[in-house]
Amino acid sequence: MKEKNDTGIFSEDQPKPLKPPDSFRKKALIKDDSLYREAEKDKLAFWSGRAEDLQWMKKWDQVLDDSNPPYYKWFVNGKLNVSVNCLDRHVDNGLGNKKAIVFEGEKGDTENLTYEQLLKEVNKFCNVLSNLGVGQGDAVTIWMPMIPEAVVAMLACTRIGAVHSVVFGGFSPDALKDRILDSKSKLLVTADGANRKGKVLTMKGAAEEALEQCPSIEKVVIAERTGTDYDVKEGRDLRWKDLMKDADENFSAAEMDAEDPLFILYSSGTTGKPKGILHTTGGYLVGVNTTHRYVFDHHDDDIYWCTADIGWITGHSYIVYGPLSNASTVFMYEGTPDYPNRDRFWELIEKYKITVFYTAPTAIRSFMRWGNHFPDGRDLSSLRLLGSVGEPINPEAWLWYFEHIGKGKCPIVDTWWQTETGMIMITPLPGVTPLKPGSATTPFPGIEVDIVDDQGNSTSPGQRGFLVIKSPWPAMLRTLYEDHERYEHTYWKQYPGIYFTGDGAWKDSDGYLWIMGRVDDVLNVSGHRIGTMEVESALVDHQSVAEAAVIGKVHEIKGHAITAFVTLKEGVEGNEELLQELKSHVGKKIGAIARPEEIFFTYELPKTRSGKIMRRLLRDIAEQRDLGDVTTLMDPQVVAAIKKGYTEK
Ligand code: WTA
Repeated sequence: MKEKNDTGIFSEDQPKPLKPPDSFRKKALIKDDSLYREAEKDKLAFWSGRAEDLQWMKKWDQVLDDSNPPYYKWFVNGKLNVSVNCLDRHVDNGLGNKKAIVFEGEKGDTENLTYEQLLKEVNKFCNVLSNLGVGQGDAVTIWMPMIPEAVVAMLACTRIGAVHSVVFGGFSPDALKDRILDSKSKLLVTADGANRKGKVLTMKGAAEEALEQCPSIEKVVIAERTGTDYDVKEGRDLRWKDLMKDADENFSAAEMDAEDPLFILYSSGTTGKPKGILHTTGGYLVGVNTTHRYVFDHHDDDIYWCTADIGWITGHSYIVYGPLSNASTVFMYEGTPDYPNRDRFWELIEKYKITVFYTAPTAIRSFMRWGNHFPDGRDLSSLRLLGSVGEPINPEAWLWYFEHIGKGKCPIVDTWWQTETGMIMITPLPGVTPLKPGSATTPFPGIEVDIVDDQGNSTSPGQRGFLVIKSPWPAMLRTLYEDHERYEHTYWKQYPGIYFTGDGAWKDSDGYLWIMGRVDDVLNVSGHRIGTMEVESALVDHQSVAEAAVIGKVHEIKGHAITAFVTLKEGVEGNEELLQELKSHVGKKIGAIARPEEIFFTYELPKTRSGKIMRRLLRDIAEQRDLGDVTTLMDPQVVAAIKKGYTEK
């Protein structure tokens, strides 16, 4: 990230932009600025043109209805089905034998599904769901490892018109419970267990802890992954295999309205309660189909690998709906990059001749630290394009990725977007945009962003401000599930009529955008969004804790590391044992990703006279900076005490 100089202006001394390599450009889908020009001329005509690429059961009457902001409607009265666009359409076009999913498990087991086979599996699972009483508009929670059954379950929901809520497999049963309760799901799809770094984690057994408190769940379908035993609750629990054995291979896809809900995906916000981000059918599919095609320069013979988990938006948009709607061959891997060896990903790229690879900066920084000999020992020559997502990528990591993975011949698409945006918003087009390491470059065609100050005025080049989106886009969230007020408040209140992203950014004199990270109480830990309030709520949920303040401390690999300052209840002693217990407690309430890296006990938290916790001061202490003026504090002594305790640790 760029250094700020004394004036608060970001320095402009960037290296010369890197032009797309000729070898890449020659074969690129888009080689010039035609898409940008088309979108500039008429944005709605541009999106309408992209929507024409999909298969509609009935064409829309109007591209965008913006008569009731911030509730926008796209492709009004259009009818379509997402699974038909991801499956039937390709089979009908003669691509039935093309591989849709190439899967490898952590243990090296493999499975391929052609488009025809995937369609059959999806149809069978639709019949299963339908026989279990799932219909249009019903919510289905999916809590699964990274296995093809997760994709089958998602697509089957879209085919029926059920609304899926995929919960990241790494979340705890407690977090799963909250999400099931909020979405009022009727059915849970899970697995017996998951493979994780050579160990078997129980899933169904763990889900049971959640299910006890989830009365809405009528049926649980359990896929077999690890052969792990579990108790079966008669009448409720059903095995995937048994249900699929005799299921009919045909199922007629529901005709869905463009604005029917497609899925809910929970994401962290600035309160303790996660937000149920709601995406709808038509606009979302147009958005992810278009961006996947052009950002990843989709070619028919690509073997495309996005390393995200299906439980995050990146998994939804760029493992499932974007690539499959483009008839891409999607490689899917169950495990982590460091098991059994730290060259696991490079081994897979070599083995499957991956052409497009999309991962996160936190992973890239780990690869860098592990050493060049891991990628250097493998043949990565199949790669032609690299991508990055989830957090700002520092120029050093960018250059390492470019050199050691892309061997200087693969453009890197640094893609900025959010669960809320549904689709990539700021990104290079790899055959067109000259790249600057560390910048996500410019908005995708048809997307209008700006950087504004507190008053909403556009900032000048080099001046830091808030990243906003100035006009609606097809894959935008439509609301927060059953919480319109929070939707309006979170995204549309700061600048009326303009979408507030929650990110800080600046623009250089070439118009390139540099994203600085979150400006709200949301942390980005290893590319995952975690609300400080969520972790604080989990801490104060413990019987010994009186109060907690959580901050993100800058971390070399993870971006941010969770650091918690905790005051204990009267008479409780803060010892090592309690410290470990609190870490586990957060892990139990939310999941391992939210476990604080450090916890400090303190007799009081620094507060303003009005009682607001000064997180900035805690960050300064944690990052060992000068504290500046602390006279506005209720008790200026507190800071000195915390600082002393912190440095003595
Ligand atoms: C951050 C993930 C800089 C940003 C798709 C955003 C990024 C949040 C980038 C959304 C990027 C994502 N450069 N920052 N290329 N991509 N972010 O909802 O702070 O999990 O607001 O969506 O991640 O995280 P989310």
